[in-house]
Amino acid sequence: MNIQVIDKMPKKADFLVSFITEGEKVRDITGKTGETVLLYNDGGAERNFYVGLGGKKDVTTENIRRAISMAVDKAKSLKVKSITVNLPDLKLKTKDVASSIVTGAILGNYDFDKYITDKERKSSILSELQLIVKKNMNDVKEIVKREKIVCESAIFVRDLVNENASDKTPVKYTALAKNMSKENNLKISIIDEKKMEDLKMGLILGVARGSVNPPRVVIVEYNGKKGGDIVALVGKGVTFDSGGLNLKPTGYMETMKMDMAGSATVLGAIVAASKLKIKQNIVAVLGLTENMPGDSAQKPGDVVTSYSGQTVEIANTDAEGRLVLGDVVSYTVKKYKPKVLIDLATLTGAVIYALGDIAAGIMGNDQKLIDDLITAGKNTDELLWQLPIYQQSREDIKSEFADFKNVGHPKQCGPTAGAVFIEKFVGDTKWAHLDIAGTAHIERRRYYIKKGATGYGVRLLVDYLSRLK
Ligand code: BES
Ligand code: ZN
Ligand code: ZN
Repeated sequence: MNIQVIDKMPKKADFLVSFITEGEKVRDITGKTGETVLLYNDGGAERNFYVGLGGKKDVTTENIRRAISMAVDKAKSLKVKSITVNLPDLKLKTKDVASSIVTGAILGNYDFDKYITDKERKSSILSELQLIVKKNMNDVKEIVKREKIVCESAIFVRDLVNENASDKTPVKYTALAKNMSKENNLKISIIDEKKMEDLKMGLILGVARGSVNPPRVVIVEYNGKKGGDIVALVGKGVTFDSGGLNLKPTGYMETMKMDMAGSATVLGAIVAASKLKIKQNIVAVLGLTENMPGDSAQKPGDVVTSYSGQTVEIANTDAEGRLVLGDVVSYTVKKYKPKVLIDLATLTGAVIYALGDIAAGIMGNDQKLIDDLITAGKNTDELLWQLPIYQQSREDIKSEFADFKNVGHPKQCGPTAGAVFIEKFVGDTKWAHLDIAGTAHIERRRYYIKKGATGYGVRLLVDYLSRLK
């Protein structure tokens, strides 16, 4: 979508969007949240769309994103290609209003319809957004440019997460990451299965054994400042999670092509950070594998040795994400000695019971890091809620036959059991773990967040990285 920032109403506008707050009273329009009215040849345009934002002093950035996405929907349904938006004058900062309009419009314009052949059913996509701005023109232009980059990365994540598992096997996914890195001048290195054997990465190799498709670890580096410390972003990239020999039943496996969302998010975030020239050194590490029940699959009861040297009892082959992360996290810590390490993973069904598709769970060993990420979540409305790490969960993963096991007790605290497993591999690195199982992929549309892959986390991470000292 092409976005133009202009200072007055254009001569011709196909679809003019005006936000109305309560009390403004434009004819019969009350300005209530969610109210929409379309009038023809009424204002300065062929179609005039009014959308309510609620009480002027209560308007949030999220209200704006939702409101603009309703306008985008209406325009798309009428096959209009260009919309013109009056930037409303609200209590919020102009730059926040502008960036919310961009987010809601770009993300709301998205549909994953590449496999729909019926032209009538394919949605009509907007190609242009004109934003009429009366003040702070240059600031708005800058913020629009930035937000567009971030949202395009989120769209990249949505597309990849929605893609067929067979079209994003670790090898195919690696090729895509290579192209992306080349286009963005990012350094990339790959660990293939042979190198994994040399490095003795027994956990990721164990998960991969049940598949004909070999695993990969993809490492992308961006240097935004001279020398200094590194921020590591690590992502779970299980390109399909059948559960392995602890096979998932019908009703649980259907969406499991989404189990690589963490990895796509860290890739999307590092690309956005590099395009925005954020002044940080960042490494994104993607642990890519399938989890399949093939003839050579690892078996429940096996004990495997991790890259770190610690042994793990495989109590359940479906708790594979933490195995992948265990090796990838300890490799990242050893090789890059990051000042902070943030991992993103669709790790547990249990986090969905706790927080639904509303917020991701956050756990870790450094409260400042956790608080900074929670703040970034509030800034972007990609919400995070902290879950506890109690000593009891560490006791739950004790094993009689190995150093520890990959699941806890039947009455374990699910998300925390995942976290305390990963914790075994972080050493004294400052670390936060984001369990995005509920937020990365949703079963129902919520305004600009469409059914399927959400792109959750890219906006949050970029906000965090751009504020980080
Ligand atoms: N990929 C799943 C978690 C998941 C579930 C993501 C639903 C998205 C939606 C993960 O690998 C898994 O299977 N976790 C198990 C862990 C259990 C065996 C301890 C789970 O949550 O059931
Ligand atoms: Zn699993
Ligand atoms: Zn999984």
